[in-house]
Amino acid sequence: MFHTVICDMLAIRYPVLQGAMQGGGGPELVAAVSAAGGLGVLPTFGGTEEKLREDIARVQHLTDKPFGVNITAMGKGFTDSRTDIIIETGVPVCTTGRADPGEFAVRRLKDAGVKVVSVIPTVDLARRMAGEGVDAVIASGTEAGGHVGTVATMPLVPMVVDAVDIPVLATGGIGDARGFLAAFALGAVGVQIGTRFMATTESDLNAWGVAQLLEMAETDTIVSKAMTGSTVRCIATPELAAYERALRNGAPEDELAALKKQVLQGRNVPDKEDRRQSAAGQIAGMIHDVRPVGELIEEMVTEAARLAAGLQEASER
Ligand SMILES: Cc1cc2nc3c(=O)[nH]c(=O)nc-3n(C[C@H](O)[C@H](O)[C@H](O)COP(=O)(O)O)c2cc1C
Repeated sequence: MFHTVICDMLAIRYPVLQGAMQGGGGPELVAAVSAAGGLGVLPTFGGTEEKLREDIARVQHLTDKPFGVNITAMGKGFTDSRTDIIIETGVPVCTTGRADPGEFAVRRLKDAGVKVVSVIPTVDLARRMAGEGVDAVIASGTEAGGHVGTVATMPLVPMVVDAVDIPVLATGGIGDARGFLAAFALGAVGVQIGTRFMATTESDLNAWGVAQLLEMAETDTIVSKAMTGSTVRCIATPELAAYERALRNGAPEDELAALKKQVLQGRNVPDKEDRRQSAAGQIAGMIHDVRPVGELIEEMVTEAARLAAGLQEASER
């Protein structure tokens, strides 16, 4: 019952995209999501061109199902090189995040037959991306992990649905069948999920990060510029809380720099046992187990169908 226009557009069974996740969504997770009938998406943010080529080859080795690559707007040089790789390697879908990657990049991807789906935090950016010719947009609420705007998923999705005439997906704060079903009530034709998919057997989030996700309450995230220079929702570690407090209190630059160093400590160590600070969304408060991602997707869709049938019955009573 959840076969929507986005399933046909992206050649996927379920309208479930896995949000690109730097530091949590490596090739194993991407391939597992795609193999389960959703669309896995590789990140490029922070990685080299060589690493992206390796990751794409790994996913192509693990599954013959479609998957995507994300471009996080980081300047023209970065966008051009990642666009080249996507086109050369035959990746069928590109999601864009953080900002507009530029009309030129969108046109190049589209001319090469790549579907382009843009994550947008405002109605204005949704309109702009639709004007540039993207195939669909993902309305991203401030509840989400990663780069965020200020508007919540609940008001944003229907406003974007009203503003553009291309398919709209919802992301930010979706973690189970209830959120999945709610997205359809708001007018979305599919969902994108990030944080919930980090607590899976296929995620490469470090062990410390996974333990955090299992313990976090819904209030344990902070939106901070400490990680990338723009607003990112992350785990509210004591180090990050201290940095934000000092920032609010007008602490001098050298003190802020020292505190920021502590926040980022060990961030780039490719060791599963390290304590890299991680982005995470408010839905972390709902995560209590680590499971195979295919199981989560199957359960979400099946349970949502059951919930929808229950709503139908209730409305007929
Ligand atoms: C650890 C982490 C890293 C992320 N990295 C990226 C990224 O590189 N590019 C991007 O467009 N979005 C990124 N995001 C956002 C996700 O793709 C997705 O839109 C978001 O997690 C959805 O909200 P949710 O966490 O509530 O499910 C990241 C999110 C997390 C949690």
